[in-house]
Amino acid sequence: MASAAMPVSLTAAAAQKHERRRIGLSEVDRVLGGGLVPGAFVLLAGDPGIGKSTLLLQSASSFAENHGACLYASGEESLGQVAMRLRRLEPIGGQLLFLAETDVSAVEEQVAQVKPQLLVVDSIQSLHSPDSAALPGSPSQVRDCATRLLRVAKEVGVPTFLVGHVTKDGSVAGPRLLEHMVDTVLSLEGDPHSGHRVLRSTKNRFGSTDEIGLFQMTEKGLEGVPDASAALLAERRAGVPGSSVAAAVEGSRPLLVEIQALVSAAPAYGSPRRSVTGVDYDRTCLILAVLEKRAGLSLVSQDVFVNVPGGIKVTEPALDLGLALAVASSVREQALPADMACIGEVGLTGEIRGVPRLGARLSELGRRGFRRCLVPAGAGVAGGNGMSLVGVEHVHQAFEVAFADA
Ligand code: TYD
Ligand code: MG
Repeated sequence: MASAAMPVSLTAAAAQKHERRRIGLSEVDRVLGGGLVPGAFVLLAGDPGIGKSTLLLQSASSFAENHGACLYASGEESLGQVAMRLRRLEPIGGQLLFLAETDVSAVEEQVAQVKPQLLVVDSIQSLHSPDSAALPGSPSQVRDCATRLLRVAKEVGVPTFLVGHVTKDGSVAGPRLLEHMVDTVLSLEGDPHSGHRVLRSTKNRFGSTDEIGLFQMTEKGLEGVPDASAALLAERRAGVPGSSVAAAVEGSRPLLVEIQALVSAAPAYGSPRRSVTGVDYDRTCLILAVLEKRAGLSLVSQDVFVNVPGGIKVTEPALDLGLALAVASSVREQALPADMACIGEVGLTGEIRGVPRLGARLSELGRRGFRRCLVPAGAGVAGGNGMSLVGVEHVHQAFEVAFADA
């Protein structure tokens, strides 16, 4: 018979601080909320080839250097393959043990034997449990294996990373199946053609979920990008039509992004195209409709392409005004002033609405050398960093100010 749990003091437990151990990669630690607590059960989801194995190999070897032996169990790659990859990464001295295994009970056994400080399982879909007749990668196998590893993590207190491939065709069970079971869900995203990768947490029982980590994929693995705004604006050509700069906030960090729009005549047949990357598709359609109805822009027979260069996705309404101005700038073939940025949500009547954390956004813009910013009227912030602020009430008015030089 199972022993019944006893009630304990919740206030005493609340007063106790979680002991966190840093991985030693600042971008990963930030997203985790400062490191890993004992027994933390973390799922890392992402498309195949995005860099999950690379990130966890780097994390495990850094963790091993800081805290002692770690175990990397892989059902996907051989010792030779993983060793070759490790050779390309920055050499790190910690003790990192490798186990090529697809049987979850063998992984459990090795954890009991080795007592690693950290366990990485790459990937949960490649494991199978000998007690279950279902195929590896099937929902019941994935759930079974994860349940067993979860028990080990909590009993032994070993922090555990599970890799979960996101699959589009549904032939293998995806990470969604495990989200409710794990403490933390991280996802690694990015445009495979650009070097940037974003690490996000969508669930975190031990920290906040709105921090992001930014990386650059290099020949030496994933390198943290501490100055994200500089990296994202590095290739911007100021003073060209169809480009604006807006300030987003991700977690505790303001992040400057360029928004590009290209509006060009659609072919006479079929419906015009709306191609959107880096911002939300539905939000973009809404802004286009507002521009059509409230700002007199004719877009019905135009193809519209929107992109945020750098492979990052930003979904905040605070970027609406930047999006609206990039579109208008392309339609008019007129550039925005090179030192002007814009911040504001656009409402359905074309009004510019307030956004949170305006001060933080403005100081980041000032730091990057912007001198003028369109902001929601009545936001009541003083300009800092030598920045002059122009309060605008409506997209109409924003266009008047932004395109005044023509
Ligand atoms: P990988 O970590 O294997 O992706 P996942 O585990 O998510 O499937 O990384 C895949 C890509 O990363 C691969 O195409 C090669 C590239 N890469 C680099 O560019 N530099 C490196 O140092 C490493 C290790 C990989
Ligand atoms: Mg992999």
